Amino acid sequence: MVDPVVVAVDGPAAAGKGTLARRLARELGLPYLDTGLLYRAVARRVLLAGGLPTDPGAAEAAARGLDLADLDRPDLRGAEVDQGASQVAAQPAVRAALLDFQRDFAARKGGVMDGRDIGTVVCPDARVKLFVTASPEARARRRWLERAGRGEVVVLEEVAAEMALRDARDAARDVAPMRPAEDALLLDTTEMDAEAAFREAWTLVQARLSV
Ligand code: DC
Repeated sequence: MVDPVVVAVDGPAAAGKGTLARRLARELGLPYLDTGLLYRAVARRVLLAGGLPTDPGAAEAAARGLDLADLDRPDLRGAEVDQGASQVAAQPAVRAALLDFQRDFAARKGGVMDGRDIGTVVCPDARVKLFVTASPEARARRRWLERAGRGEVVVLEEVAAEMALRDARDAARDVAPMRPAEDALLLDTTEMDAEAAFREAWTLVQARLSV
């Protein structure tokens, strides 16, 4: 049997990964998995239980107890969960607990997988690997607009500082740090809107899938 198609879409927050990956999945007829939601759901569980996301015992227990309903909560996008997700994601036991779920998902019917380490660790044999970036200023501005659009009172400089902290933690951790795979195609969306980013990505994906 031919292996199902996996498209890895990695990169930092607010680079345009989510919108892009969802649309690629739709156009390719593949399932979509936002793997960041797994780490967010773990952080949310820890916080709700009154624990600290930096506590390895609490974080591992939450990762092992995760169920699919946890991915469907409305409160996974706040600032506290942002930082908590990045803190639980730095812990090897949490990553190990979530690895099988992600690999099983990809093995079933393939998929477009959105994350930080899909091309390097979760699915190193993915047919297509995109690493999506944008300048820190552009990303902070997008996240700020998104939050303000939800009615949150947010200051651009604070959003930029929180994002820089999270990027640094995600890129510097020992286990599965955020970085492009050697065979990843880089896509810088600083000057692109969602439509332009999709068109560019579509060309890259088609070129890889036709080889
Ligand atoms: O993509 P996101 O912002 O929802 O991800 C939240 C956090 O989860 C992010 O700071 C790093 C972590 N993460 C990860 O380490 N590996 C992934 N594959 C996805 C997310």
